[in-house]
Amino acid sequence: MITKNLAVLFSGNGSNLENLYLKLHNKVFDNCKIDFKIAISSRKNAYGITRCENIGLKCEVLSSKDNKENYDLKLLDILSPYNIDLVVLAGFMRVLSDRFIDAYTTINIHPSILPLFKGANAIVESYQSNMKVAGVSVHYVSSELDSGELIDQDTIKKIDGEELESFKNRIHNLEYEIYPKAILKVLL
Ligand code: GAR
Repeated sequence: MITKNLAVLFSGNGSNLENLYLKLHNKVFDNCKIDFKIAISSRKNAYGITRCENIGLKCEVLSSKDNKENYDLKLLDILSPYNIDLVVLAGFMRVLSDRFIDAYTTINIHPSILPLFKGANAIVESYQSNMKVAGVSVHYVSSELDSGELIDQDTIKKIDGEELESFKNRIHNLEYEIYPKAILKVLL
């Protein structure tokens, strides 16, 4: 049996983080055990920190206003003791430096059919667009925002007259389905 060590970076609510942890942590897939070692929040008031306490995942806060390079050096310092195989971004609202990306295989989830609707407002932009479908993407992280090779995507049909809240919930539910599968696809 081999073990794959994961780290999660987040900035806010942490619902993807919690979903991933509950579905994958300490579980074995094809003779490979998944071990979430640590989470790091870029915001000290993120609700995800409370989720980490509740589920028993060690969490550190790195909310420095440093530039990208200095911030990422601190991230690398925090991660260095854990022998991390994969870094998972789950609502981490910072762009990572080349130095970080060269050090760790890093993947991200984004709530749109990339390359459409990059950035922090993807769900609303996708909701307001005239497209008939919406979706989510999982991709390797590059040094450009919400870019990098795609790992998986999935879509939902838009429903005429649907409220934004209901649309958001359907997008998040799709994220909870696709992200654990994409992680296993990368690791196995
Ligand atoms: C998720 O919808 C994720 O796809 C998005 O942030 C949300 C975090 O929610 N990420 C991005 O927009 C990346 N550009 P969560 O904190 O509840 O998991």
